[in-house]
Amino acid sequence: MKSLILGIETSCDETAASVVDNEKQVLSNIVSSQVDIHSEYGGIVPELASRRHLENIRPVIDSAITEAGVTLNEIDAIAVTIGPGLVGALLVGLSTAKSICYALDKPLIGINHLEGHIFAIFLEEELPFPFVALVVSGGHTDLYLMHELGRIETLGRTRDDAAGECFDKAARMMGLGYPGGPIINKLAHQGDPKKIPFPRPMFSNHSFDFSFSGLKTSIKTWKASNFPAEQISEGQDLYDAAASFQEAVVDVLVSKTFLAAEGNNIKRIVVSGGVACNTRLRERFRREGTEKGIEVHIPRSIFCTDNAAMIAVAAHFKKARNNIDWKIEDLFSLDVSANLKL
Ligand code: KG4
Ligand code: ZN
Repeated sequence: MKSLILGIETSCDETAASVVDNEKQVLSNIVSSQVDIHSEYGGIVPELASRRHLENIRPVIDSAITEAGVTLNEIDAIAVTIGPGLVGALLVGLSTAKSICYALDKPLIGINHLEGHIFAIFLEEELPFPFVALVVSGGHTDLYLMHELGRIETLGRTRDDAAGECFDKAARMMGLGYPGGPIINKLAHQGDPKKIPFPRPMFSNHSFDFSFSGLKTSIKTWKASNFPAEQISEGQDLYDAAASFQEAVVDVLVSKTFLAAEGNNIKRIVVSGGVACNTRLRERFRREGTEKGIEVHIPRSIFCTDNAAMIAVAAHFKKARNNIDWKIEDLFSLDVSANLKL
């Protein structure tokens, strides 16, 4: 029987709502980005994010429902991100979801944002377990071994900055805009990735943990010694710095993820999260996968960056895993958590 889940995502700076059916068909996928208000500050300002979510949440949900061609009454359950993320931002999504569920007597399903990123791949393809999952975003750089539905092993995570955060901070130090990832990615197309030997943190280390703060410092040092006091003007030096920096991040992500897959004898890798939009990262993962005989699966970019379809599809899996009618979270006890772990 057909069932519909309305997903709601407000953990960071995107207000998103989406309707997904139990066959993983995305009936609508609305994402309202807040980049315009945060770019002025070179990063996300939590209080501004919460306020913008408050303004956007109802129109975004209305659009998702209208575009799906259904009514709120026809929705079978609501899934909402409960963490990790900015507490004020998460609360807007959760409070809205609770209110709708209470008013219309619908089940509410709380979803971990990281689980959402991992399950985004199922919006596009059927995939058997087990697989190694790399979640690489503005807040996370995590490696998981997905044994089966409901059995997730954490293999490693960043000890300091996340890869996306490193892209954003490096861009800021180079005098570029926000978010830094897409800007560096674009400039890198014209640069030489071998020009500047930026460090590959924890490269030869056999741990599956990451560390990106040293790389960030080396961008600062490079800028100070090559362009003291002044802004780097657009030109070959900037292109080379962008390409060399990007290559260092991609080298570490690719090598650790394949090491994790090979070390655990896993033949399948899923990469997701905002940084998985990076064209060089996608190309390097695919090439390495072909050479090593390991399948590489990366969702389309619209499902890599924050969206609510990934939250809704993760909820369909949660329902299936619990193997009951609906796993109904207790409406009133469900709460947000900034540091929720998988
Ligand atoms: O998953 P996401 O939308 O939000 C979080 O959960 O954090 O990821 C946002 C991050 C930002 O740091 C942004 O700079 C990065 O993803 N990003 C990229 C690219 N597109 C987005 N990083 C590198 N290359 C890109 N093309
Ligand atoms: Zn995310």
